[in-house]
Amino acid sequence: MILVTGGAGFIGANFTLAWIDKTGEPIVNLDKLTYAGNLGSLAPLRAEARHAFVRGDIADPALVGELLAQHRPRALVNFAAETHVDRSIHGPAAFVDTNVVGTFRLLETVRTWWSSLPKEDADAFRFLHVSTDEVYGSLAPDDHPFTEQSAYAPNSPYSASKAAADHLVRAYHHTYGLPTLTTNCSNNYGPLQFPEKLIPLMIVNAIAGKPLPVYGDGRNVRDWLYVGDHCAAIRAVLDGGVPGATYNVGGDAEMANLDVVGTICRILAELAPGRDYASLVTFVKDRPGHDRRYAIDASKLRRELGWRPEESFESGMRRTVRWYLDNDAWLAGVTSGEYHRWISLNYASGTR
Ligand code: NAD
Ligand code: TYD
Repeated sequence: MILVTGGAGFIGANFTLAWIDKTGEPIVNLDKLTYAGNLGSLAPLRAEARHAFVRGDIADPALVGELLAQHRPRALVNFAAETHVDRSIHGPAAFVDTNVVGTFRLLETVRTWWSSLPKEDADAFRFLHVSTDEVYGSLAPDDHPFTEQSAYAPNSPYSASKAAADHLVRAYHHTYGLPTLTTNCSNNYGPLQFPEKLIPLMIVNAIAGKPLPVYGDGRNVRDWLYVGDHCAAIRAVLDGGVPGATYNVGGDAEMANLDVVGTICRILAELAPGRDYASLVTFVKDRPGHDRRYAIDASKLRRELGWRPEESFESGMRRTVRWYLDNDAWLAGVTSGEYHRWISLNYASGTR
């Protein structure tokens, strides 16, 4: 079996659902259930004997040690993190606590347990750390996309905390021989994403007839990947990745934010006609330190492990918009009081 952390969040929940569906291998899911964690996302697994949910913190050595000793996983996939750049600007401490100190404590607990395993089990074990392309910083318009050799140059408290975690993972391989794997993926979108990130926020606001707040000039570029394709990449790296190696994951789908919002409005006009969605676009104050462009060169992953994305941006966006239109109950469950406090804080004029 495998142990995942952060499996009640956006990517972790998509990964857990697909894991049971595609591999049938048991999975234990450790998640603290912060504002971003939602058990409703795992509802299809409620009666599934091969899935066990445990509420807890990756920074809790007693709990994590107990789970490792009890289940003896062949791999751990670490999704658990604070993940929203805007929240990291308003309150960076939680990002250092979970992404830096939490990852360190998790590595240390795993190392202690792993050192006591018989050699064959220790060699076969994998610690897969899920990270982001944002650790590489920002690209100029004509720069080559990030490769695994690009220098780390994080610019936000979020990306700096993820970079620190990546360095610790690297050090645990080089110093202690822990069989680690690191994936650095571009921006994900798809079902079950908390509506604070660009794509779900725009879909949810557009459906409700609310303004679509575009930061700055709307020309910042991100490289978008459908979440199911990211989950497939993680499975491929878990199966065939070389211990100590890092793999960039991306969809070759660079797009300016305004074009992303335009695509959402066009698809909504088709699937839910009756409103002039594009007229809701509103330019708002820019994010401080806003990275201009991210883009990923995923050729190593394609070449060495044969991974390819299945969804184009158009097909993935259609599935995503459809999913949000069809899942009111999930949405109502996550847009609680805390959500409204966040929206008022981040989008109040003059707060940044
Ligand atoms: P998310 O914010 O939706 O979910 C994070 C999950 O981690 C939540 O369920 C939360 O409850 C849990 N968590 C937070 N702190 C924890 C702790 N201390 N102990 C245990 N659980 C904790 O995030 P996501 O978008 O699903 O991202 C998952 C991972 O993928 C993160 O490591 C992120 O950096 C990385 N990533 C995300 C993207 C993206 O576009 N979303 C892209 C590349 C990489
Ligand atoms: P986001 O989804 O927060 O991901 P990240 O900052 O990690 O790339 O933002 C994606 C892009 O969309 C980024 O350039 C910021 C921009 N953005 C807006 O223009 N308006 C918004 O309300 C949000 C949340 C993001």
